[in-house]
Amino acid sequence: MNREKLALAAGCAAFAAAVATAQAPPPGGGPLAPPYKNLQVFPKDITQPQLVGNMKGFAQALGVRCIHCHVGTEGQPLSTFDFASDAKPTKLIARKMLAMVHRINEKEFGVTEFKDVKVTCFTCHRGSTKPLTAPPPDVNLVPPPPATTPKAS
Ligand code: HEC
Ligand code: HEC
Repeated sequence: MNREKLALAAGCAAFAAAVATAQAPPPGGGPLAPPYKNLQVFPKDITQPQLVGNMKGFAQALGVRCIHCHVGTEGQPLSTFDFASDAKPTKLIARKMLAMVHRINEKEFGVTEFKDVKVTCFTCHRGSTKPLTAPPPDVNLVPPPPATTPKAS
């Protein structure tokens, strides 16, 4: 995959872009700074704001925190996390999801530029790890037929 395609694969476009413009990389490295050790989908030269923006996008789309996919202890400093580790199955699933989202955008919607992205993690997940396969049973999403007068409520 080339760089443009990889940018598309990001899957959480708006969030990534917002972060990229809002946040300059802090000086002096830190646990979230490049060089990254184990990127297999994102471009190797991705910037810190792009990487972190996408990660926040993942977390927001699924309604989870970083440790859902990364090895670490909630409440501990990020410097104690092992972000490069692939020990958590959810991280491996997320990589496959990235590839899927990229394919859908490119093949089904003909998207060639990052800004035109149609499908992101949020499109399906909407703040949940388990996207719904049907409307919730207590919700009727079908509008009334045009002839019926809606009841005053
Ligand atoms: C839904 C799963 C998921 C969540 C949630 C998530 N990440 Fe990631 N993270 C990944 C995947 C997948 C990769 C590897 C991407 C690749 O292979 O190109 C990654 C890579 C990284 C890397 C690069 C590590 C390296 O050296 O290779 C950092 C840093 C990182 N994530 C930080 C975070 C932070 C901070 C959060 C919370 C805001 C977070 N991640 C939330 C899935 C996730
Ligand atoms: C086309 C819809 C769709 C899109 C887009 C999508 N997912 Fe998923 N994802 C699913 C479905 C369906 C499951 C399976 C849930 C289940 O097992 O019930 C799933 C499962 C997952 C899981 C494992 C479930 C868990 O417990 O954490 C992770 C992680 C995940 N997705 C991450 C992502 C990320 C990151 C993106 C964006 C790059 C993404 N998904 C985009 C449909 C989607």
